[in-house]
Amino acid sequence: MVVLGTRPEAIKLAPVVRAMTRTAGFAPLVINSGQHREMLEQMLHLLGVGVQVDLAVMRDRQLLSELTGRLVTGLNEVVRARRPDLVIVQGDTTTALCGALAASYEKVPVAHVEAGLRTGDPYNPFPEEINRRLIGRLARWHFAPTERAAHHLYAEGVPPERVVVTGNTVIDNLHWILAGGEGTSAFRTTRRRLLVTLHRRESQGTDMRGMARTLRRLADRGDCEVLLPLHKSPAVRESLLPELVGHPHITVTEPLGYADFAATLAACDVVLTDSGGVQEEAPTLGKPVLVLRATTERPEAVEAGVARLVGTDAGEVFTAASLLLDHPLEYRRMASAANPFGDGRASERILMELVRDRRRDDDALLAAIMD
Ligand code: UD1
Ligand code: UDP
Repeated sequence: MVVLGTRPEAIKLAPVVRAMTRTAGFAPLVINSGQHREMLEQMLHLLGVGVQVDLAVMRDRQLLSELTGRLVTGLNEVVRARRPDLVIVQGDTTTALCGALAASYEKVPVAHVEAGLRTGDPYNPFPEEINRRLIGRLARWHFAPTERAAHHLYAEGVPPERVVVTGNTVIDNLHWILAGGEGTSAFRTTRRRLLVTLHRRESQGTDMRGMARTLRRLADRGDCEVLLPLHKSPAVRESLLPELVGHPHITVTEPLGYADFAATLAACDVVLTDSGGVQEEAPTLGKPVLVLRATTERPEAVEAGVARLVGTDAGEVFTAASLLLDHPLEYRRMASAANPFGDGRASERILMELVRDRRRDDDALLAAIMD
């Protein structure tokens, strides 16, 4: 049973579902929690993922506590009705935590894709750092995207034989979608292209308004175009829109479909983002990333030189972006294609490990019977 409910979960679990569909011995049952609505629906068809159950839990401005209640109840009912052999969850969303909890209540083992990411600060990102730590206590299989993530798990006492370094499945999907060649860049300009995404709960309000004002200042330069596909969250829209509307060099769009977003990323010059997935995708395409957050659980891109952790202070963001726009050497230094997040074969490794583990169980059972 594969549980997903938000845009990044669909993107990162789609290659796992596709791999299962073509591998003998797997029968994927995809559950859409419906934590997201429009932003998820626009993904699923394109990604080739068929959903068997849709819990449709999303409410406007949902509180974490209410969302958690609806998700645990709904997902647990599905686990009880379908009795899957294992439940796969991804990342650090409320859907992922509740999927792991709902399975554990029925003693169904849990596999965690993108395990071991940590910032060390329980409130940043919030509530994701809390969610992923809790999932780490519940899971039987921990599929870590990088060695660093695996080491976080060892340090927390997870047995090394339960951890497999796979790379991140987002890279599998990025290769797949770019190979399809179906996307169109949303940029319509000959100026320098700044691609921006912002949505984190901990930045909404004052910080996000400040960053929006900075985007306006950057657009005022006249030599660059800001493109911002806007997250559906009303709190995000209220923080960003008043500062961004009506500027000739700022384009605000609805969320882009994945193929178009990938093409837009490939066409841009600089990325400014607080997104986890975008931080992983941009380095693959050699796009400098300014991470607009206080912390990152993905320091590998910073170490590779293609990303900078800038924070959320409006002045710092302006300085960091101007440096890239004004200094070609600095730009070239960062615009190196580096991919610390995998080779595009993470899903295969995940499936191989699940098969190997199943065999170990079968062998143990066989040995017990022979005895
Ligand atoms: C969620 C995840 C976050 C992830 C992000 C990806 C949690 C707690 N947060 O944050 O980890 O990075 O998704 O985008 O799991 N909305 C719509 N339509 C949609 C989606 C959202 O209208 O398709 C609106 C609703 O009013 C909803 C609000 O956005 O209440 C917030 O959605 P929610 O899933 O609670 O949080 P995100 O900020 O999207
Ligand atoms: N993305 C997309 N359309 C957009 C913006 C982002 O398809 O308009 C994709 C992007 O390629 C990445 C994922 O959404 O794979 C990131 O999702 P998000 O930023 O919502 O969540 P996070 O990764 O921060 O959890």
